[in-house]
Amino acid sequence: MSDEALIAISKRPKAELHLHFEGAAPPSFIRGLAKEKNVDLSGIFREDGSYDYRDFVHFLSVYEAATSVLKTPEDFARLCTAVLEQSAANGVVYSETFLSPDFCGGGDVGAWREYLAAIREAADHAERTMGVTLRGIVTCIRHFGPEQAKSAALCAAETADDWLVGFGMAGDENKGKQRDFAYSFDMAREAGLKLTSHAGEWRGPQEVREAVDDLRVDRIGHGVRSIGDLAVVDMLAEKQVTLEVCPGSNVFLGVYGSLAEHPIDQLRKRGVKVTVSTDDPPFFHTTMEKEYGDLARCFNWDASVFDDLTRNAIDAAFCDDQTRETIAKKLELS
Ligand code: HPA
Ligand code: ZN
Repeated sequence: MSDEALIAISKRPKAELHLHFEGAAPPSFIRGLAKEKNVDLSGIFREDGSYDYRDFVHFLSVYEAATSVLKTPEDFARLCTAVLEQSAANGVVYSETFLSPDFCGGGDVGAWREYLAAIREAADHAERTMGVTLRGIVTCIRHFGPEQAKSAALCAAETADDWLVGFGMAGDENKGKQRDFAYSFDMAREAGLKLTSHAGEWRGPQEVREAVDDLRVDRIGHGVRSIGDLAVVDMLAEKQVTLEVCPGSNVFLGVYGSLAEHPIDQLRKRGVKVTVSTDDPPFFHTTMEKEYGDLARCFNWDASVFDDLTRNAIDAAFCDDQTRETIAKKLELS
């Protein structure tokens, strides 16, 4: 593929469905806040200024350390602007982001409302000035356990509306079972929220099946290791459960040795609805433009494949149909 063709693909308008809000914080933004608040975070950065961690579990603890300097609703509003500047610079016109009440008021509904209002105000401003539309997904954190997840689900249920559109689960997939969180997912579903859960990033196909069967999710975060059991792959295709695939994250964390070994192309060819996201872009040294360029180069995908990915993302977005139509036009989908 020519350089011009690659650039054209990487510059396409995009929709991103899987983005951890705090995980999208540029390291310079976190360092700036740490300085303002006199917090010593030098242990989580490398000399070149990037985040420093050894493996996935260590990544989660560095993530939580970085997040600890985000204290007030105003801090989160500033983060929102910094994150959406990156999205807009990468041609993203629609994004959904994972927000955790655990980090925004400790699971208290009243406090959560204040954080959410501040984030939403910053997002509305960014929509007017940068042309990127954001929606929120409340996310419980698996390694904090099912009881704490109930507080997150209550926050989500109490604030479900046209902006706060989903509920999900992130965190350490190797802790507990999907079904331990069924109470929280049921509460969120009853409040009208759409559902997604991280599964099949670290554990295998059975974990993906359990997320679908036990939590009745609409989408799966990652889901790539479903490739180990074609019956699970076919179930995803048949039920049209969309995968939020984050190829650069998977390669950076060593789930796959290289992009060429990543199953996204096989999943797509077997009929699974796949989409592309960055997960925690500065942590994994990626951007949406980089993801698109790398995929085009590695799998020789032409514009029609990216049209399919974009269509999948807009079809599986948790926003209301009016927003979906507006975004589809911006994404140049007919
Ligand atoms: N995976 C799982 N949990 C997370 C992540 C992630 O990439 N980022 C923040 N929490
Ligand atoms: Zn994730």
